[in-house]
Amino acid sequence: MAEASTSNLPVLVFAPFGKDAALIERVLHQSSIATLVLPSVQGLEAAICEDAGAAILPEEVLQNGTIGALAQRLSAQPPWSDFPIIVLTGSGMSTASTEWAVRSRAPLGNVTLLERPLRPVTLISAVRSALIARRRQYEVRDHLRERAAAEDALRRAHDALESLVEQRTAALRRLSVKLLRVQDEERRRIARELHDSLGQDLTAAKISLDMLAQESDPASPHLRDARMLVDRSISDTRTLSHLLHPPLLDEAGFLSAAKWHVDRFGQRSGITTKPDLPSHVHRLPRRTEVALFRILQEALTNVHRHSGSRTVNVFVRTDESVVVLTVQDFGMGVRREVLDRFWKTGNVGVGLAGIRERLKELGGALEIESNLDGTILKATIPASHTVIDSNDRSPAVPSQEVRSTLPAD
Ligand SMILES: Nc1ncnc2c1ncn2[C@@H]1O[C@H](COP(=O)(O)OP(=O)(O)OP(=O)(O)O)[C@@H](O)[C@H]1O
Ligand SMILES: [Mg+2]
Repeated sequence: MAEASTSNLPVLVFAPFGKDAALIERVLHQSSIATLVLPSVQGLEAAICEDAGAAILPEEVLQNGTIGALAQRLSAQPPWSDFPIIVLTGSGMSTASTEWAVRSRAPLGNVTLLERPLRPVTLISAVRSALIARRRQYEVRDHLRERAAAEDALRRAHDALESLVEQRTAALRRLSVKLLRVQDEERRRIARELHDSLGQDLTAAKISLDMLAQESDPASPHLRDARMLVDRSISDTRTLSHLLHPPLLDEAGFLSAAKWHVDRFGQRSGITTKPDLPSHVHRLPRRTEVALFRILQEALTNVHRHSGSRTVNVFVRTDESVVVLTVQDFGMGVRREVLDRFWKTGNVGVGLAGIRERLKELGGALEIESNLDGTILKATIPASHTVIDSNDRSPAVPSQEVRSTLPAD
């Protein structure tokens, strides 16, 4: 609807009897106040709108039915509007201006009484006051609209920001998944290099040293030291290469690599390991197997570095739909604030965040239960849903996350 200028709002006049209407029109016209004389109460009802300034009507027209109809129309005004009505009363002790009459007009709201006979100066003064009040209402309306527009703009900016954050989070997630993959590939490459290059050279050096021992004095302490150092280097290189990426993982699958790793972890750390692994697991997509292995590695490293536990249990359960890897220690537990921060922001160390990202990527779930008696880390990866493609064999299921913490006290 086009907005009317508020500088010359028309005054509605409904005075069907006598000469009131003509008088009002003439007086207001002389004061350059626009009027709109209406022939019926229905016309008045229809004309009361945002673009009208005030209404003048004599008390004779205010029968019960008229008051009800006008009150209904006025109640439909917007909240900022309080439409001014000037009611022309009789003079002095008019019965119509008794208390009852005043009460019965209350539903009309903003009513001013003006006694007849009308004096032009009083009429103009009352009408001007009504129009000034009406203009204030328009200012309130404009202010409310501006505020609503500002709120709307703010809401849209907030929504845009949220969506930007979502996009950025998704981009970061894709990046971290990519980084994990690059890291896996790099570890695999370095492991192979160590094995094929340094490992082979060291083996050749060992053979040469063995031959040297046959040709010269085998009891030479220098020779003995050199052979010992080369043996140790061969063993260290092999261990490093296998830790980086055990060849068993590619050759025999997660279960064999897990058995080997848990065993070696126990030997290196002195922590008693209690593996409970199924005798047989179908080969899983490569990324699933690598993810399970890396999760196992990180969970055991955390047990060693943080828990103080003397024992660790490793369970693998599998059925057609899921593989579940559980690592349980009996140490001091993850501190509650660390765990809360991890679930809220993922911002603790790289290890747990990496586990979570790997699981998310594969549509899996992570649960961590921790209290003063120890920690249970449970990683669940869908097995049946894994879509195997020739390159990366990634699953096409939505990711989910399960949070579970036992109270720390
Ligand atoms: N089994 C555990 N027992 C007790 N606290 C643990 C355990 N695992 C993790 N935590 C706590 O959770 C924190 C986060 O672990 P996370 O693996 O993410 O990082 P980190 O091990 O400190 O460093 P890195 O990035 O090298 O893995 C640890 O610093 C430790 O306080
Ligand atoms: Mg860690």
